[in-house]
Amino acid sequence: MTTDAERARAGAVTEGFDHAAGSYDRLVGANPGYHRDLRTSVRRLRLPGDGEGLRLLDLGCGTGASTAALVEAAPRARILAVDASQGMLDVARTKPWPGGVEFHRARAESLDPAWAAERLGGPADAVFAAYLIRNVPDPDALLATIVAILRPGGRVALHEYSVADSIGARMVWTAVCRGVIVPAGRLLTGRADLFRYLWRSVLEFDGAETLSERMRAAGLESVARASFPGWRYGITHTFLGSRPGGSW
Ligand SMILES: C[S@@+](CC[C@H](N)C(=O)[O-])C[C@H]1O[C@@H](n2cnc3c(N)ncnc32)[C@H](O)[C@@H]1O
Repeated sequence: MTTDAERARAGAVTEGFDHAAGSYDRLVGANPGYHRDLRTSVRRLRLPGDGEGLRLLDLGCGTGASTAALVEAAPRARILAVDASQGMLDVARTKPWPGGVEFHRARAESLDPAWAAERLGGPADAVFAAYLIRNVPDPDALLATIVAILRPGGRVALHEYSVADSIGARMVWTAVCRGVIVPAGRLLTGRADLFRYLWRSVLEFDGAETLSERMRAAGLESVARASFPGWRYGITHTFLGSRPGGSW
């Protein structure tokens, strides 16, 4: 049986984001914790110094909210920001960015690690992917790509919703979607489909333990996770891991 999330991941996700691109920043700006939580997940990567000499990837960068969180933590890093949606990238590119930031259109799971290393001047020290892995048809392929992109010892942070392990988290998520996210999304974009997809895709996505196990199976070590306070507790998480074989 094909689930809503599988159908949407197979192509409609990018089309949905293309449509929402013009209103996306207003939408996430109405969510008081959105940017703060991205910055917290980036801090959890423990990037050293001001980013000088670091090579970073932002997969599923959207309109650049996650890229901005990386820039704030590591303003001197080289950052390759990748998204499948032309509309989201067009909005991202209108913003002012430091010289080390570059945007590129591609499906993250199909990114060629050699190409990424060439753009960055070497393999990545860290990969950030905020609200991406739930949207890709094959999360294991995405994780394999991330491991191949990272240098030995390089770190990944996946910032993602996951509620399958807790009935309480599923109930709060459904209440927030019904009461706030779907109506606000319809109001701001004129369409509710992307926001209904968001609701259902989170309900259908891996539990935190399953995603952690996927990360270990992909070859990542030191896999750990942390959540956020308030209504996001047990709903929004940072999943961390590192490629074996090196240090910072
Ligand atoms: C919810 S947005 C998050 C954007 C940004 N990371 C942020 O935190 O605001 C998810 C983004 O992932 C992108 N996306 C979905 N599937 C993708 C894929 N397979 N490869 C690359 N980007 C993808 C969408 O186009 C969208 O811009």
